[in-house]
Amino acid sequence: MKYMITGATGHLGQKVVAELNKLVPSRDIRLGVHTPKKAANLVAAGFDVAAIDYADTETLIQAFAGVDVLIYIPSLTYEVQGRINEFENTLTAMEKDRVKTIVDVSFFADQYNNPFQMAGYYAYLPARLASSHFQYAVVKNSLYADPLVPYLPELIERHNVIYPIGDQQMSFISRQDSAEAIAKVAVKEYLRDHGQNYLLTMKQNYSMDELAQIMSQVTGKKIGYVPVSLQEFADIYRSEGDGDELASMYKAAAMGLMNDVTDDFQHITGHEPQGMRDFLKENYHA
Ligand SMILES: NC(=O)c1ccc[n+]([C@@H]2O[C@H](COP(=O)([O-])OP(=O)(O)OC[C@H]3O[C@@H](n4cnc5c(N)ncnc54)[C@H](OP(=O)(O)O)[C@@H]3O)[C@@H](O)[C@H]2O)c1
Repeated sequence: MKYMITGATGHLGQKVVAELNKLVPSRDIRLGVHTPKKAANLVAAGFDVAAIDYADTETLIQAFAGVDVLIYIPSLTYEVQGRINEFENTLTAMEKDRVKTIVDVSFFADQYNNPFQMAGYYAYLPARLASSHFQYAVVKNSLYADPLVPYLPELIERHNVIYPIGDQQMSFISRQDSAEAIAKVAVKEYLRDHGQNYLLTMKQNYSMDELAQIMSQVTGKKIGYVPVSLQEFADIYRSEGDGDELASMYKAAAMGLMNDVTDDFQHITGHEPQGMRDFLKENYHA
């Protein structure tokens, strides 16, 4: 059985590579990389690395030859049509190479009324796959917990969490736990043989007061919760390039659309996901 992971040099992709390699030997894993120089360590580790560009179907056709199961990790393209085109090119290449199965990594902002700017892409995926003849599972992540770690120094300075979501809760999962679940879905046919749609979350969601309390305990610094407005949030982070996208996502959270909790992680892996307190304790180093 030949597995292929796209986005293999990315934050999530690297962890999926490591987790899949715990379950199958490197010779059965091919890695799709966008910028080959980022993959020097993977080549050195003996992986079969193929250069791909989601915008160039020919590169995908070459890379997918002989593959049985594709783990598709999308790019960070912040534009719905662009992301759909990348996905469609991938399906075209799968078709040409007779790749039977796709594990599609997605995000939980997929409801019809979700105002997140990328929600149209995430909503498109399950219906598109359902109308195809591929075997597939959609594995949706809740919010990555990981970016909270480098964000903590700023929150300590601000003395507050500022997410504009009022009294709503949000759901999180660590990239490490996400990667473990994705690898298990890929190797266990019964987990991906009837169009499953998973949502990976911790065992509970968190109100921002709860999150601030955990952050205070972990850092030893008083962090409270004083939400800014959506507009203020977008203005604060616009210079980093994605203020408006993020604000649209927190608008969804303020509507209660980002708080679902499931036991899918436990079902897939057989153990509990790491909770927020343990995750931050393990990863925050003052
Ligand atoms: N759950 C969440 O909270 C959350 C947060 C952020 C993102 N996400 C989603 O999770 C996915 C993975 O996130 P991540 O943090 O691992 O992102 P990342 O580190 O940016 O990884 C994306 C990967 O896609 C590759 N890529 C970019 N453009 C490509 C192209 N045209 N053709 C082929 N590959 C291309 C990148 O390679 P290069 O670096 O070489 O371009 C990189 O390896 C993203 O799609 C994003 O939508 C989820």
